[in-house]
Amino acid sequence: MPTLGLFETHPTTGKLPKQPRGITAQLQAQGLATVEGLRTRTAVLAFAQAVMRVEAHRDSDSDGLTTIQDIGRRSLQPGFGGLGNGELLPHTERSSEPCPPRLMLLVCQRPAARGGEVLLSDGQAVHDYLADHFPAALEAFALPNTAFYGDGGGHPSQVFTQHPGRRAAIRLRQDSLAAFSPLVSGYLPQLREAIGAVQQRLMLEAGQGYLIDNSRWLHARTAFGGDRICLRALGSPRFPMLPGFPRTALRPEAAAPTADGSAAP
Ligand SMILES: [Fe+2]
Repeated sequence: MPTLGLFETHPTTGKLPKQPRGITAQLQAQGLATVEGLRTRTAVLAFAQAVMRVEAHRDSDSDGLTTIQDIGRRSLQPGFGGLGNGELLPHTERSSEPCPPRLMLLVCQRPAARGGEVLLSDGQAVHDYLADHFPAALEAFALPNTAFYGDGGGHPSQVFTQHPGRRAAIRLRQDSLAAFSPLVSGYLPQLREAIGAVQQRLMLEAGQGYLIDNSRWLHARTAFGGDRICLRALGSPRFPMLPGFPRTALRPEAAAPTADGSAAP
């Protein structure tokens, strides 16, 4: 019984690696596509390589995919929560890096015995919710260098980065490796309200997964029990994507910070 509910689901069985045309359009427009039929590691890798240039990362295996499963006590270290079985708060992937991967694919290979739901929030909807309900919070979260993600070698940033062409990108983590300036920390409850208000739930079955624009969608996970196994790929798209997502104008363009966080003249 399919449980994917976001947008059109793309069955992939037998059609790789040629078919991701619809997925390309969906990612460009919505920043998200759901897929199913990827029941083996070989199929996941072939699909990932069809849509992105897969980038190896700290936790990835030799083929570039990362096996996401509970590794026990080592997952208790800061920055390793994804490899445990606990709840993961909404975040973007690799927020501590200067240039996080643009795309993230996560495909379930074995569902959890209980829990392990995927929670997705569209950063554009979060942005719009804040604009409607808490405009001061939205202004604050766009102030340059008001967040620091990572350890000593991490990256100063802000929750919303404004780009030319009335676009914005989101970057967030909420674990012990996130620190926020007093200019924005008082607004975190409003940010969390916005993320929760627009959040959508997915219960992935074997072979089902999602592909997201990591500069637009926040992902999270509920705690789980059992031997849940997912495969993840990170990388850059094999098709053009404008930076971030179209944003609601909150301030005159001339006053908006530039993409690198500096104030425009
Ligand atoms: Fe993650």
